[in-house]
Amino acid sequence: MTWEELEAQCKSCEKCELCKTRTNCVFGCGNKNADLMFIGEAPGENEDLTGTPFVGRAGKLFDKYLEAVGIAREDVYIANMLKCRPPKNRDPLPSEQDMCIEYLRDQIRLIKPKMIVCLGRISAMRLIDPNFKILKEHGKWYKKGNFEMTAVYHPSLLLRDPHKKEGMLTDMKMIKARLDELTGQT
Ligand code: URA
Repeated sequence: MTWEELEAQCKSCEKCELCKTRTNCVFGCGNKNADLMFIGEAPGENEDLTGTPFVGRAGKLFDKYLEAVGIAREDVYIANMLKCRPPKNRDPLPSEQDMCIEYLRDQIRLIKPKMIVCLGRISAMRLIDPNFKILKEHGKWYKKGNFEMTAVYHPSLLLRDPHKKEGMLTDMKMIKARLDELTGQT
């Protein structure tokens, strides 16, 4: 399947009820040849309205971390576990994740990143370990198939709990350092 076919399929998806309330399907954005992929939870209101992930308050905060550690947003690929917004931003249901995850798996297969970073516990629990504890295990590395994975705090958690910002910066610096090693840019 080509990228264009996958995107078209995803944008016309009616596998779950979320298609009825979406304004836009938020497929993902960035570099389709990225070495680094970030995976969030699900679109919020601004993402649903624009069709682009991480453009609301949490997204703007996330951009600051990318900038602080010298990662250009256009060099990475950013996607979510769910492509459609859950009503009132509730947590994605396991059934919605089950229906949507194949789109994400296909995106990963086509992009072939060297590194995947989960943004928050929902994607970490689905992609790294069902028992993942974000407070204890953020910033730890896991080798999965052809890529390395880690998880960091979700930017909306940082909006609610600014004390976690320092830990986020430490993790993001470590991610950039590892990325440079993996891509031979040390
Ligand atoms: N939170 C997410 O997990 N994803 C977005 O795209 C926006 C907010």
